Amino acid sequence: MGPIAVFDSGVGGLSVLRELVAQMPSEHFLYFGDSANAPYGTRPTAEIRSLTLAHAERLFDRGAKALVVACNTATSAAIGALRARWPDRVIIGIEPALKLAVSRHPGGCIGVLATEATLREEKFAALLQRCAENCHILKCPCPELVEFVERGELTGPALERCLAARLAPVLAAGPDALVLGCTHFPFAAGAIRRVVGPDVELLDGSAGTARETKRRLLDAGLLVQQGEGSVTIENSLDSPAILALSRQLLHAPIFPGRES
Ligand code: SIN
Repeated sequence: MGPIAVFDSGVGGLSVLRELVAQMPSEHFLYFGDSANAPYGTRPTAEIRSLTLAHAERLFDRGAKALVVACNTATSAAIGALRARWPDRVIIGIEPALKLAVSRHPGGCIGVLATEATLREEKFAALLQRCAENCHILKCPCPELVEFVERGELTGPALERCLAARLAPVLAAGPDALVLGCTHFPFAAGAIRRVVGPDVELLDGSAGTARETKRRLLDAGLLVQQGEGSVTIENSLDSPAILALSRQLLHAPIFPGRES
């Protein structure tokens, strides 16, 4: 059986790959990050869709048995097109952990930190309609944050200044939780925690996505449950620096206070 392909616009999807490996240690994963074209979140929808379809095609051609779109922006723009093109394949996307946030804070105030593309897409509007009842939801685009993470700049005053400016309207409303609606953002969780303080719950969708992937593979009779698994990391930049950063992000204990 082929590997599970995990796709992201860059290094962010490694936050999902960590969960996938933890939940399915016998599986073989092929991670592909498109850092040469990151960030996706500031691009037009048609361009995000066409990049995602092209990478998915290449990954399936290489024998991937399933595809995890570990990128909120690519999921928002392209999951429908992917499923229409490969109706018989196991294709899993990720969405902001809003349902989880609402269940933990009924009637509360919830910020959603994500890319401009994720927040403007119909998929997010539908998610809001489905599960945000009675809550006060504040959208918070933060286009620069993906670039900080792509540079490996996960802490520091410049990052905290950027976060403080972007999160100011959310913080003024006194949020109960902040949803990290882009897979890059958990890597900046330490800086985000310093800016929002100790009382705002930080949530992301990676654990839920990994559970859903496992369930779908099991249902399809495709789950490998015995033996030693493996992880291969590739990136469209193909530079030693991006591959070293990817390995660092995959293994370093960089989720202080992760709550998902
Ligand atoms: C981006 O490339 O702009 C962000 C990817 C994501 O939304 O997870």
